[in-house]
Amino acid sequence: MSNRQPDAVRVLDRFDCYELCVQSPRHVAPFLRAVHGNHPIRLREDFCGTAALSRYWLEDALRLGEKGRALAVDLDPVCIERAGPPTPGALELVVADCRSDDAGDTTRREPADIVFVGNFSIGYLHSRAELMRYLRASRERLVAGGRGGIFVCDTYGGTSAYKLGSLTRKHPSPTGEIVHYHWAHEAADPLTGMVTNSISFRVERAGEIVQELPRAFVYNWRLWPLAELREAMIEVGFGSTQVYTDCNVAPDEMPVPVGGAAELKDDWIVLIVARV
Ligand SMILES: C[S@@+](CC[C@H](N)C(=O)[O-])C[C@H]1O[C@@H](n2cnc3c(N)ncnc32)[C@H](O)[C@@H]1O
Repeated sequence: MSNRQPDAVRVLDRFDCYELCVQSPRHVAPFLRAVHGNHPIRLREDFCGTAALSRYWLEDALRLGEKGRALAVDLDPVCIERAGPPTPGALELVVADCRSDDAGDTTRREPADIVFVGNFSIGYLHSRAELMRYLRASRERLVAGGRGGIFVCDTYGGTSAYKLGSLTRKHPSPTGEIVHYHWAHEAADPLTGMVTNSISFRVERAGEIVQELPRAFVYNWRLWPLAELREAMIEVGFGSTQVYTDCNVAPDEMPVPVGGAAELKDDWIVLIVARV
């Protein structure tokens, strides 16, 4: 059963704020569809959080008259509960450790057309061995999909990647609040590549702060260099990789990959697409 309260009395919680300020499935889903290019059906969203992309993937497929299935995996049962309910034959929600290779993970052998890892979650793979094992398993799922699958993840880099600091942005919510989003680099160690980042929120309603969510999400990631990720993808057997700076594509437009380093700003966020 959902523990959400009726919208009229409900103060936005950390998941509402996250979906509003951080995610944009309505841009990511068409991007994935276009970059895949062969009527992808099965999306696997690893490190899925509340599975916002998976849920949108299914709505989008319905709208387009395409077939759609989504499998969303997260370690945190609270996220998976929030993502639900599952829909038989369409949305499968699984609590599992995406790093794990063991037979206990029943989704291990499920074919996919697209594997997506969003919001820098590839950084949860802390060692090269873990990264390689995970990429290898993802490739196997895509090969089993048989439709020319793609693996897609994002990462960030540039001059501020290892600098401590923060930024704040305001996002209006559909229910009239203003959500103050605060992203902080709390720790960064270039010797190990490990970073600690956090997201805090403040919810403002009619000029008053009605909700403070300090460090609502705290992340300990390894910040994999872009070149190393691409190299690892090729090493496990992917045929090619492309890098994209923008997932906002017009309908029927083909996303254009980055052609050279000059196209990256001083600080950048990119999507890496690896094809089987
Ligand atoms: C940064 S959030 C990303 C949420 C969503 N994918 C997005 O694009 O915004 C990372 C999620 O990964 C989950 N997570 C962390 N380690 C994990 C692991 N080893 N296996 C599965 N999920 C994990 C966390 O519970 C969290 O929900």
